[in-house]
Amino acid sequence: MTGTAVVVGASGALGSAIADRLRADGLHVVAVARTPPVGDGWCTADIGSDDSVAAVAAAVADTPGPVRMVVQAAGLPAAGPLERIEPDALGRAVALKCGGLLRLVRAVDDRLADGSRIVALGGHFGVEPAPYACAAGVTNAGLANLVRQLSIAYGPRGVTAHLVAPGPADTPRLRGLSQDTADERGVTLDEVLAERAAESPLGRLVTPDEVAWAVGTLLDPHAGALAGSTLSLDVGARRGIF
Ligand SMILES: NC(=O)c1ccc[n+]([C@@H]2O[C@H](COP(=O)([O-])OP(=O)(O)OC[C@H]3O[C@@H](n4cnc5c(N)ncnc54)[C@H](OP(=O)(O)O)[C@@H]3O)[C@@H](O)[C@H]2O)c1
Repeated sequence: MTGTAVVVGASGALGSAIADRLRADGLHVVAVARTPPVGDGWCTADIGSDDSVAAVAAAVADTPGPVRMVVQAAGLPAAGPLERIEPDALGRAVALKCGGLLRLVRAVDDRLADGSRIVALGGHFGVEPAPYACAAGVTNAGLANLVRQLSIAYGPRGVTAHLVAPGPADTPRLRGLSQDTADERGVTLDEVLAERAAESPLGRLVTPDEVAWAVGTLLDPHAGALAGSTLSLDVGARRGIF
C-alpha cells in the first residue's frame, strides 16, 4: 500500500508496534512524540498543544500519497485512583487524548482521501469501569463518543473513524502503574499483574503486536463498515453486551 500514516505516541509500547506494522504494510510513517529518539521520520510535537497542528501539517507536507491513516496513541500521565485523583486531572486527561485527536485530524484534514482511517487508542476501562483506572475510564469513554462524531462528520468524504480499545497490555506503562499499586498495597508487582491478567477469561494480558494487528487491519477496504465503532481487544474481559 502506498501513502502516509501519522502515529502520535510512536515511541511508546503500543505506538511503536503500530508504526512498525504500518511501515511493514508499505506506508511512509510520520512518527510523533514530544521527545522522539534521534532518527529520520520523527516529528517533535506535543499533541496537547495547539502548536502541534502546524508541526504535524509541516511534517506531512512532502510525504507520499494521501494520509491513509492517523493514529492517536499518546499516553496519559498517571493520575491515580478514584479515591485520590485530583478532580481537574480528569479534564486534563480528556483534553490530551480527545483534544489531541482533534488536533491530529485537523493537521492532516486536506490530505485525507476516500478510504482514509482515523484511529484512536482507547481502552477497556472506557466501557468497563475500574476505580483504579479513573482517568483512563473517563477519557476513553469520551473518546468513543468523539470517534463516532468524527465518523459522522467525515463519512461523506469516505473517511472512517475507529476506536481500538485494548484491555491491560503487557507494556512498561502497565508495569509502572501496577508497581505503584503494588507498593501501595504492600504486595508484589507479579501479584498485581496476575490480577490484571485474571480480569480476562483467558487469564492473560494483551500484547502490543495484537493491538498493532487490529490497527493495521483497519486499512483493509472491507473494514469500512466498522465506521465509528469500538474494536474491543480485551481478551474477553468485558461482561456486558451492547
Ligand atoms: N499499555 C496499556 O496497558 C494500555 C491499555 C489500553 C490502552 N492504552 C492506551 O494506549 C495509549 C498508549 O499506551 P502505551 O502503553 O503505548 O504508552 P507509553 O508507552 O507510555 O507511550 C506513550 C507515547 O505517547 C507519547 N506522548 C505522551 N504524551 C504526548 C503528547 N502530549 N504529545 C505527543 N506524544 C505524547 C510518548 O512520547 P513522549 O513522552 O516523548 O511524548 C510515547 O511515545 C495510551 O493512551 C493508553 O491509555 C494502553
